[in-house]
Amino acid sequence: MLTNLRVWLNHFEYHAEQPRGAPGGSRGGLRPEERRLIARSIATFQLGEQSDGTGLLRAAYRFATAHGDELLPRITELFIREEQRHARLLREFMDEHGIRPKSRHWTDAIFRRMRRLAGFELYLHVLITAELIVNVYYRALEAATGCQRLRVLCRTLIADELAHIGYESELILELRARKPAALRTGIRLMHRAFYCGAACAVWISHRAVLCRAGHTAAGFLRTCLEQYTFHLDPPAGWSAASAAESRRR
Ligand SMILES: [Fe+2]
Ligand SMILES: [Fe+2]
Repeated sequence: MLTNLRVWLNHFEYHAEQPRGAPGGSRGGLRPEERRLIARSIATFQLGEQSDGTGLLRAAYRFATAHGDELLPRITELFIREEQRHARLLREFMDEHGIRPKSRHWTDAIFRRMRRLAGFELYLHVLITAELIVNVYYRALEAATGCQRLRVLCRTLIADELAHIGYESELILELRARKPAALRTGIRLMHRAFYCGAACAVWISHRAVLCRAGHTAAGFLRTCLEQYTFHLDPPAGWSAASAAESRRR
C-alpha cells in the first residue's frame, strides 16, 4: 500500500472545497502584439489541460484494487477535476481575449496515446513529464507578458501544478523503490530520455513564447532537466516517507 494517500486526499479535498481564487482584474491588459505571440501556444496548453480523465480513473481503480489502495480512486477524481478547472480558467481567459481554442495538436496527441498504453504507473510517468514541463512553461508565459490578469492566472496554475508534481513524484519514487536496482535504473533512464524528447517537442512548438521569456533552446532544456532532477532524482538516502515528513513540518 502507498504510504501517504490520506495526506494527499486531505490536500485534494481541501482544494476542491476552496479552489485557489480565479484571477480577476482588467480584461484589456493583453496588448495585441502579446496576443499574437501567445494565442496558439496558450490554446495548445489549454487543450492539454482538458481531459475527461476516464482512462486515468480506470487505471487508478485497477491499481487500487490490486494493491489495496482504496483512497486512490477518490484522489484521482479530485485531481482530474482540478486539471479540468485549469482548462476552464485558461478557456475563460482565451474567450475574453478572442483567442480560439484548439481541438488537436501533435504534442497533445502523443501524450494522450502514451497514457492509453498501460497501467497507472506509466500514467504517472507521462503525467509528471507534462506537469514538470508545464510548470517551466507557465513561468515563462508569466515572464513573457505584461498582462496582470494572465500573470496571476499563471501563478495560480503553477501553485496547483507544484502540488501535483509533489504528489506524483512521491508515488513514482515510492513505487520505484520497491523494484530491483537494475530495473529502477532502466526505468529512470528511459523516463529521462522520454522527458528530454518531450521538452524538445515543447521547445519546437512554443519557442516564440519561451524566447520572449529569455530562454534559449539549451537554457530551456537545462531548466526542465533541473526540475526533473530536483523532483525525480533525489539524493541517495531519500525516501517518500522522509519527503512527506519534511513537507508536514
Ligand atoms: Fe494543470
Ligand atoms: Fe497538473
